[in-house]
Order: sequence, then C-alpha cells, then structure tokens
Amino acid sequence: MAIISPSILSADYMNFQRDLSMCKDMGAKWLHVDIMDGIFVPNITFGPGVVKGMRKVSDLVLDVHLMIDRPIRYIKHFCEAGADYLTIHVEADTPENTMEALKQIRAMGVKPGIVVKPKTPAEAIAEYLPLVDMVLVMTVEPGFGGQKFMADMMPKLKQLRTMLDEVNPSCHLEVDGGVDLITVKTCKENGADVLVAGSAFFGSQDKAAFVKAIEA
Ligand code: DX5
Ligand code: ZN
Repeated sequence: MAIISPSILSADYMNFQRDLSMCKDMGAKWLHVDIMDGIFVPNITFGPGVVKGMRKVSDLVLDVHLMIDRPIRYIKHFCEAGADYLTIHVEADTPENTMEALKQIRAMGVKPGIVVKPKTPAEAIAEYLPLVDMVLVMTVEPGFGGQKFMADMMPKLKQLRTMLDEVNPSCHLEVDGGVDLITVKTCKENGADVLVAGSAFFGSQDKAAFVKAIEA
C-alpha cells in the first residue's frame, strides 16, 4: 500500500499546528519536513526547534528530509527533536561521514534514510542500501516546491527498487518533487511506495480525496 507524505514546505508557516491537524483530518499518516540550510540548497527553512514543536502537537510520522551540508553535525539535534525518519543526502558529505551519520541515526532509535539528487546515479548509494529504512529519489532539484516533475528519474527509481529487493526488500522507496494525481501513477509503477506531495496536496480542493487517490 502507498503512503502520502504531505510536504510542510507548502503549508502556512504561521499556522503549522493548524495545518498539521488538517493533514491528519484529511487522512494523512505522515508529514514530510524539509530542512534547508542555504548552502546545500539555495533556500532556508527552519531547524530542530521547529521539528520539536511539531512533535509536541502532532502524532504524524515525521519524515524529516535534511537538505543540509555535512548533516552528521546535526543528527543528534534532529533525532532528539522527534524525527521518526531522518533522511540525509549522499552528496552532502564524504562516504565515511555518510556511513557514520546513518549509524548514528539508527543508534538513536530513529529510522535512517538516504537521498539522491537528480544527477546522482543509483550506484552512488549502493553501499548504504542494507543500512537504511528509506531511499528517497528526488524528482526535482531540491530547494523549492512547485517545480516540474522529472519523468526521466523513473529508470533510476526502478533500478533502486530492484537493488533494494535484493538486499533490503522491506525498505521504503520515496519520491519527492512534482508529485500530483497524474505523475503519481508512473512513480508507483516504477516502485515508489511513499509519495511526497507539497503544492499539489495543499493546492487541492478536496484534500481527503487527494490522499485517497495518491494512496489507492
Ligand atoms: C523540494 C522539497 C520537496 C518539496 C516538494 O526540495 O524536498 O519536499 O516540498 O514540493 P512539490 O510537491 O510542490 O514539488
Ligand atoms: Zn523534501
């Protein structure tokens, strides 16, 4: 069964509590939380304090996507803040630090994830696949919501599903960027089971129907 992870990036930043409750009322079980540092990506969002605040007011599964340089520096902060999944970019540090960061996340009782930008091949994360609970394939260049879905990422998605089926079959495969009621179809056909939706979810008239359609 597929899972929708509505992206808080498209919510009303003065009304996170209201929007988190709304996501739950509309039937979502997860919430995608984008952390940007202005260095790894050309945009800035918020830090662990806001994640901690979200944890206090919501029991949604917090799917935290770190778009920050050298994420190993902040693993402890985001785990303690209450992330359920903590996903780091393979492009953000050395292989040694990436491996160590994933181990630290696991040791803190949080589910580790690894994410690839559009130009990064599937092979770049092969060594981490046995260690993670989620692989995230970006279907836009990270940094902003509302960009066009990159259908040319589908072969990589399929390749990662095949690789995971061999070494870690229960691992989630998530897509992020430009997912809507049309593009979700090819994502699922190519093996995705967690679908991030920002602008399409928050912009939809009937959000409960949107959740059902994505998860169908
Ligand atoms: C982009 C973020 C996404 C973003 C997706 O860098 O990682 O999570 O919120 O937004 P949409 O669904 O609008 O493409
Ligand atoms: Zn994201």
